[in-house]
Amino acid sequence: MDHEPTNPITKALVIGAGGMLGRAWVEALHQRGIEHTTADLPGFDLLDPDAPDQALRLGGYSHVLNAAAWTDVDGAEASEPAALELNAAAVARLANACAANDCHLVHISTDYVFAGNASAPYPTDAPHDPINAYGRTKAAGEATLFDSPARWTLIRTSWLYGSRGSNFVRTMLRLMSERDEIRVVDDQRGRPTSVRTLARATLDLLEQRRSGVWHATDRGDTTWHGLATRIGEMTGSTCKVVPCTSGAFPRPAPRPAYSVLDISETERVLPWLPKWDEALAHVLTEIAQHDRSTPA
Ligand SMILES: NC(=O)c1ccc[n+]([C@@H]2O[C@H](COP(=O)([O-])OP(=O)(O)OC[C@H]3O[C@@H](n4cnc5c(N)ncnc54)[C@H](OP(=O)(O)O)[C@@H]3O)[C@@H](O)[C@H]2O)c1
Repeated sequence: MDHEPTNPITKALVIGAGGMLGRAWVEALHQRGIEHTTADLPGFDLLDPDAPDQALRLGGYSHVLNAAAWTDVDGAEASEPAALELNAAAVARLANACAANDCHLVHISTDYVFAGNASAPYPTDAPHDPINAYGRTKAAGEATLFDSPARWTLIRTSWLYGSRGSNFVRTMLRLMSERDEIRVVDDQRGRPTSVRTLARATLDLLEQRRSGVWHATDRGDTTWHGLATRIGEMTGSTCKVVPCTSGAFPRPAPRPAYSVLDISETERVLPWLPKWDEALAHVLTEIAQHDRSTPA
């Protein structure tokens, strides 16, 4: 939802540029001919309290796009203070630096800020009620933004994957090539989202000068089993994909059962948003092309 229009995007700093979303943002900025600079470990450490101001001062950036985060959901259970430092305290410092340097901050959050016990999609103004440590740290990061003096756009997304990086789609492709049968949980429902969709949606929202809280995902929803089944169908895999419950795969962090984000407002302003299996088909083609061009 908008609160006030942003400035036009003229020059962006992409933080966490080597990660899955960061790379997609860099590619999208490049395609649109928008000037940009990248920042990531080890040269740029968002945990260094001086790093944001040093990076922004004299940079002439209109926008900062932040993809850096603690993203290890299970690891956050045993390391919540460290995850909180990156997902909330560092975000607060980054927002202050953005305010001091007249930059608009784009920050990414997650469906995991919600409890996941709903039966209808979560609207952008639903209350935070995370059920795991990662969700708590991301909710705290959102709260710092809501209280910050910066101009910002907060985009919640879910179940991110792309042709590169560590993600569910690539894991399924590997397992399907190694095994005759895999079991995949069928009692968690959400919206799979290609980083390509999210990168394009981010820049479109900024070009439309949108601020405030937005949900951006691919259209439709499914379970992890539904997603794995479509991967198998689209790649012609003979591996059997057997549904199971979350109880069959105990993990350190509990997962929300239903974390579908309400994207109706985003669909209204970005009518091109693809259905999740159309976006999946595109990514599977990219992976196949990459594998063909990279000898084993
Ligand atoms: N993945 C999902 O399913 C999902 C779902 C919903 C929301 N999100 C959110 O989407 C955003 C992007 O996620 P992603 O999956 O693209 O993450 P990712 O692939 O893990 O990328 C994160 C990037 O941030 C960098 N980074 C980590 N600590 C840093 C630090 N102290 N200073 C500077 N850079 C640092 C990482 O570098 P190293 O690789 O060197 O550590 C990496 O390049 C995050 O805010 C995440 O919470 C993700």
